Amino acid sequence: MTTTADKVVPTGRRSRFISEDWEAGVFRVHRDAFRSREVFDAELRALWGKSWLYLGHASELEQPCDFKLRRVGGRQLIFLRDVKGVIRAFYNSCPHRGTAVCREEEGNSKHLRCFYHAWTFDTEGCLVSLPSPDAYPPDSGFRERLGLRPVAQLSVFRDFVFVCFDEQSPPLADYLGPAADYFALIDEQSPDGVRALPGAQRYRARANWKLLVENAMDGYHFAPSHVTFLEYLKRTGTTTSDAGNSVTFCGRHLGSVQPNHGGRIGLSWEPRFGEDEKERIDRNRAEIFGRLGEERGRYLTDGFKVLYFLPNLILFDIESVSVRMLEPIAPDLTEVTAWALAPRTEDPASTGLRLKTLVSFIGPGGLATPDDLEAQEAIQRGIVTTAGDPREGVDWNDVSRGMAEELRGDARLSANDEAGIRHFWRTWDDAVSAQLAAAGCP
Ligand code: FES
Repeated sequence: MTTTADKVVPTGRRSRFISEDWEAGVFRVHRDAFRSREVFDAELRALWGKSWLYLGHASELEQPCDFKLRRVGGRQLIFLRDVKGVIRAFYNSCPHRGTAVCREEEGNSKHLRCFYHAWTFDTEGCLVSLPSPDAYPPDSGFRERLGLRPVAQLSVFRDFVFVCFDEQSPPLADYLGPAADYFALIDEQSPDGVRALPGAQRYRARANWKLLVENAMDGYHFAPSHVTFLEYLKRTGTTTSDAGNSVTFCGRHLGSVQPNHGGRIGLSWEPRFGEDEKERIDRNRAEIFGRLGEERGRYLTDGFKVLYFLPNLILFDIESVSVRMLEPIAPDLTEVTAWALAPRTEDPASTGLRLKTLVSFIGPGGLATPDDLEAQEAIQRGIVTTAGDPREGVDWNDVSRGMAEELRGDARLSANDEAGIRHFWRTWDDAVSAQLAAAGCP
């Protein structure tokens, strides 16, 4: 820290990837962070290998023995509900010689059978049958030793299921910290909680995964990038004021809240939803206010909320609720899987409107997401062109917007500034630079 006449100014950090100078008001990110294979591998170990990762929603596995294949943090997992109803996650890798045991995307089965030598496992992962078992010494404990391998940790909060590949990592409750309230707010939208609607949207961005994170936490791009979307909202009488749109630091995670924003299916009405939905919304609001009280009820019903949960989940609680799971495939390729969530007991007409909205606006072919995809991919193309230029500042991105407000310690940091993105980069740098240093990389 350096001291000036009237305040203490943090000196910032200087690493291979981050250059932060508070006195000059400059925060930069080196572009190697988006394109280097070495960095990508370090991220997988330091961030994805040690953090809690979103795996899915418990409602996706409605019945005992339901299973789904899911790729998370570079590993393929079997996400299942066992015969007793317990949610589990196993590596999709046969303990015998490594074959992918499960080759269907989803299904319901009391047994999982590896096709190579026909070893068969129950839904708790136990090896229950194999050809010629007497080839193994009967008292060797081979059945106990050779069950399906569970992930190191699995935890469920309000039906949101998370896994962690490091058994030393602190429990999920510690990792969630204040971000837990974003999940609670979604679950509280109905007295019976929410469910994942059937089906998912899956698409790929030819861009580094961190560009999708930056985009989700960047209010600054909204007006210039989403012109068509904004025109549509204005034409339909939707409230679009961004006054008071603020970003909050939730430990490692980031939240963005836009209070008093209308147009939330089942929660706050806009003309584009039609008169029938107005009646349903009035009924829902009365139920929510009665159950949660005026203050919590108003906070739940009247504001857009976006949560970035480090590293793989973006939770949109906006017109409708959707979760986007990010999966890094390569330094310049990211897969996104998105699900819509809805109150378990929602009127089918509202659910139809919810799905239509999801498809029309924030789905991969909607009015908003294609703009974002184009931006993310254009950045990835752009940052390749300066690679290796050693001149000062040429191969760096600038993320300095709003540093003065952040330095003043303003309680409400505008989401149109880049404070949230800087917070993300500091958290990222703490993990990845340390990993690279431990590996002996400069
Ligand atoms: S590799 Fe699975 S049974 Fe042999």
